[in-house]
Amino acid sequence: MCGIVALTGHPDAVEKVLTGLSRLEYRGYDSAGIAAQDAAGHITVRKAVGKLQALRDTLADTPLDHSNIEHSTIRTTIGHTRWATHGTPTTANAHPHQGRLGGPQVTVVHNGIIENYKHLREQLEAQGATFHSATDTEVIPFILSQQLVTHTPLEAIRHAAHTFHGNYAIAALVEGMPDTVLATRKGAPLCLGLGEGWYAVASDPLALAGLTTRFIFLEDGDCALLTPTAFTLHNGEGQPVTRPVQVLDLDDDLSGKQGFRHFMLKEIHEQPAVVAKLIETYTTPDGTLALPFNLSNVTGINIVACGTASYAGAIGKYLLEEHVGVPVNVDIASEFRYRNPPLAEGGLFIAVSQSGETADTLAALEHAKAHGQTCLVLTNAPNSSMARAAHHVLPLLAGREIAVASTKAFTAMVLAFTLLALELGTDAPAPHLAELRKLPQLLNNQLAALKPIKNLADTVTDAHSMLFLGRGVLAPLAYEGALKMKEISYIHAEGYASGEMKHGPIALVDATLPVVNLATGADGLFEKTLSNLREVEARHGRVILITDTAGAAQLDDATKRGLTLITVPDAPKLLTPILFTLPLQLLAYFTATAKGTDVDQPRNLAKSVTVE
Ligand code: AGP
Repeated sequence: MCGIVALTGHPDAVEKVLTGLSRLEYRGYDSAGIAAQDAAGHITVRKAVGKLQALRDTLADTPLDHSNIEHSTIRTTIGHTRWATHGTPTTANAHPHQGRLGGPQVTVVHNGIIENYKHLREQLEAQGATFHSATDTEVIPFILSQQLVTHTPLEAIRHAAHTFHGNYAIAALVEGMPDTVLATRKGAPLCLGLGEGWYAVASDPLALAGLTTRFIFLEDGDCALLTPTAFTLHNGEGQPVTRPVQVLDLDDDLSGKQGFRHFMLKEIHEQPAVVAKLIETYTTPDGTLALPFNLSNVTGINIVACGTASYAGAIGKYLLEEHVGVPVNVDIASEFRYRNPPLAEGGLFIAVSQSGETADTLAALEHAKAHGQTCLVLTNAPNSSMARAAHHVLPLLAGREIAVASTKAFTAMVLAFTLLALELGTDAPAPHLAELRKLPQLLNNQLAALKPIKNLADTVTDAHSMLFLGRGVLAPLAYEGALKMKEISYIHAEGYASGEMKHGPIALVDATLPVVNLATGADGLFEKTLSNLREVEARHGRVILITDTAGAAQLDDATKRGLTLITVPDAPKLLTPILFTLPLQLLAYFTATAKGTDVDQPRNLAKSVTVE
């Protein structure tokens, strides 16, 4: 989603901000812009629709030093990548936005949503402000300009922020205040990067990788004023505060496809290593668990997440209920946060999030914390807002996931739930852990035999719609399979529990509908799956069966002839969800590549959804 990078005092500020924005590209955006300030405090803005290259082209066509600004004197720049929420992706709607009302001209970039912008805009228009965009953001520079008439810069941004409802991270430049960046946040993440003779602001420290390793994460309400030689930090009450400096060793390497055609394919292939790393880190060679926290007397669990993470959570429910024997609820974060669900005293709340920044999941976590729950977050971003808000963190150790469609983080989430279920359960973990240790090799074997899935993908590219069905722990995996397919191939797909098919979805079945069934031959329910398959066949539907060798052995020749069969290795029950995941990811991937879609950055999607 939107990204902010700002620098003050850096001799190469424009280029460093553009590089920082490129580090956030993978999150998804549809326009970009920068504002540069010269030594006299004059500000020039350049914006473009589309990828960052379009902004670079605009800068080449209309260089900053052709305007009223001396390029050589630019040491202060703010930049933004925008993922449209209010107003279509146009140059006018791209950030930075500028406004002046009573005070100096102010230039801002903003992540999040100002929910009361309509009301504020009406008020500002009545006072003489002229708006040039359809965005919620444009109210910010006018209000900050007004506040600067009577307040110091830090007080002005604090007072301005108090008029905004919603979530925001803001960086601003003020005309006539050279080499000064103002910043504030609430709900949306923002950090300071500490340099030698310069300071930076970014919505994600990753934007500053290669520039600094020292960061300060702003808390809700914090306001910062940065110059090249100093920064001042106030909290939401206007009191000076200090926040801890965190040293992060961030991966500077953006090249990273390592010979794979897409990041998604690379990340699919990284899964054996991710699984091995999780097992190695969170278990001991003598067969015990080594999770980085102690949880005892768990009587009930709420799992909350969005999208793919919520399906990992739903798989977690099956694993936890079976091994721990306590009731487990799974909720979509956007529903949980407003439903006010009863939360039993002493309950365990588990947020699941690759990014650790998803707005709804973060809000749900804060709600649970305020209601006395012990909060654990399973996240791939141990420095994220969720990791800081939770009592306990289980890092997913999957390495940076660049492709918008989550693959290795999902697998890591499922494995993390498996380890958690063994930790909280009463079974002796050693035999289970011995089974889990076979996973990397089994996944590698699957990756060595991709051909049948690629062939299958070539046959579904023309489909307008697909169904994904599964039972038990494979039901939520069917939802995930459908999500992956629609995210990157744009084929409409639905996931259902197999038993639900007769209750409605069967009406969709005809010769054009591929129906992907997930079934293990080892759960005693395979006969029921076969009945479901026959029901699809009888209506001329296209049956695709993903099963293990035990399932395949239960098919007679006639049934085999009527369907497309993909087999996964026979394996202990605990390994089933992860082994069935790989073919679903690959089916979506090969279908998308056959259709020629933008696999790593599919249309309309953002990697980290920081607005509701
Ligand atoms: C995954 O493929 C999706 N892009 C999406 O559903 C994602 O899982 C969801 O937005 C939650 O993100 P999070 O894990 O970062 O919280």
